[in-house]
Amino acid sequence: MSKKTLVVTYLPSGERSNTKQLVDAFLAAAKGKTQVEHLDLLQEVPDFFTAESLGAYVTRNYMGQPLAPTQTAAIAKMDRMTAQLKTADVVVVAFPMHNFGPPAAVKAWFDSILLKGQTWDLNAGGFVGLMKGRKALILNTSGGAYEGPMAGWEHAVSLSKVEFTFMGYDAIEAITAPGMNANPAKAPESIASAVAKIKALVATWYS
Ligand SMILES: Cc1cc2nc3c(=O)[nH]c(=O)nc-3n(C[C@H](O)[C@H](O)[C@H](O)COP(=O)(O)O)c2cc1C
Repeated sequence: MSKKTLVVTYLPSGERSNTKQLVDAFLAAAKGKTQVEHLDLLQEVPDFFTAESLGAYVTRNYMGQPLAPTQTAAIAKMDRMTAQLKTADVVVVAFPMHNFGPPAAVKAWFDSILLKGQTWDLNAGGFVGLMKGRKALILNTSGGAYEGPMAGWEHAVSLSKVEFTFMGYDAIEAITAPGMNANPAKAPESIASAVAKIKALVATWYS
């Protein structure tokens, strides 16, 4: 068990969650193959930037200046979440699509961990990702299916992929179960297809 996996979930539908079925499939397949740490964004709600925490972030991470204790406290949760992510070789982020994008809590988690100097940086050549050598898996379900003319409405998986790419992750995969509400008769098939892909991916990543 050389690798550590951080599983980040936002599953407000609880036991009825479609997305939870993908998470459970991942956990079952990965059992015994990796050390798993779970970040439940319903329990550990990420902060979003306030005037104080953004000020602290810019002061410290862009200007390289020390922070007052109140500023350190204002950005402490973001720092904790970033440090946690940096301990993981693999990160799995699981969430449903809400209003064509990631739910606000998931976006707030991305905003919390995309800290300059920690997961990405700027050098003379431009942006550089600092998370090289790591893998990211996005697990997502949605009510509709975003193909053909609707493809441009999909911002949940596509945005998540951009965030991980920006941070320099080498392998970024998304496994989705679309059409949960648009075609309920086919929902079990959509989930089953995603579960099969999850098993195959785990066999490859943790071999
Ligand atoms: C508040 C809310 C917003 C949603 N917005 C969308 C949406 O924009 N597009 C879509 O295809 N499905 C949308 N859905 C449907 C869910 O993405 C879909 O039912 C998903 O499988 C729910 O996953 P869960 O059971 O894990 O919560 C929305 C559901 C909720 C509750």
